[in-house]
Amino acid sequence: MIRFEQVGKRYPNGHTGLHELSFHVQRGEFLFVTGHSGAGKSTLLRLLLAMERPTSGKLLLAGQDLSRISNAQIPFLRRQIGVVFQNHQLLFDRTVFDNAALPLQILGLNKREIGQRVMTALERVSLKDKALQYPSDLSTGQQQRVGIARAVVHRPALLLADEPTGNLDPRLAAEIMGVFEDINRLGTTVLIASHDLALIARMRHRMLTLQRGRLIGDGESAR
Ligand SMILES: Nc1ncnc2c1ncn2[C@@H]1O[C@H](COP(=O)(O)OP(=O)(O)O)[C@@H](O)[C@H]1O
Ligand SMILES: [Mg+2]
Repeated sequence: MIRFEQVGKRYPNGHTGLHELSFHVQRGEFLFVTGHSGAGKSTLLRLLLAMERPTSGKLLLAGQDLSRISNAQIPFLRRQIGVVFQNHQLLFDRTVFDNAALPLQILGLNKREIGQRVMTALERVSLKDKALQYPSDLSTGQQQRVGIARAVVHRPALLLADEPTGNLDPRLAAEIMGVFEDINRLGTTVLIASHDLALIARMRHRMLTLQRGRLIGDGESAR
């Protein structure tokens, strides 16, 4: 599903984001990308979202060459991807339902379809009973789960998360990782960038380790 072939990313200011990175990800995999701050984790995710272009090498996502993708193709690419950020970026003047419905409203689906898909997504993160509440009524962990529901509501083949547990205590962080595992079990490919090695080491998944833009490890996360 994902093929990085000698992918390099140099920023205009001369900083190197990634250096000749090569790895493959199969459809349905669950993997972590880890490394210290500045290692290139967010750069890797931004390349997959075509928010940035590689400056060398070749990057394929579901057969599409992201090093050559046209701006007109980017919205279609992003329909295949869901994204979860550290700061969930919810709209606090809208209900949980409306927050999760946002990507579907942008796609222009009809009300009935939106209703069904949103309730399915909220069920997947165990928040069906909170649909009509506002984000401010929810705990931090529940808010992050709304962010995950919104990221999967359009049924993306690939779910990306950038430090999704960065603001959570260890117990909530583990719970959120469990939600990602549930989503992966239903077939979605999941790629999580995180520097929280203590948390990752308690799970059994593939882990890519970056150091200053280079891949220095590709193995199992559990110690
Ligand atoms: N927009 C940018 N402009 C210039 N340099 C950047 C930019 N984004 C990231 N970098 C540089 O790329 C490297 C990797 O950063 P990043 O991908 O954000 O790492 P991480 O997410 O692992 O902390 C760092 O040296 C950083 O300074
Ligand atoms: Mg980052």
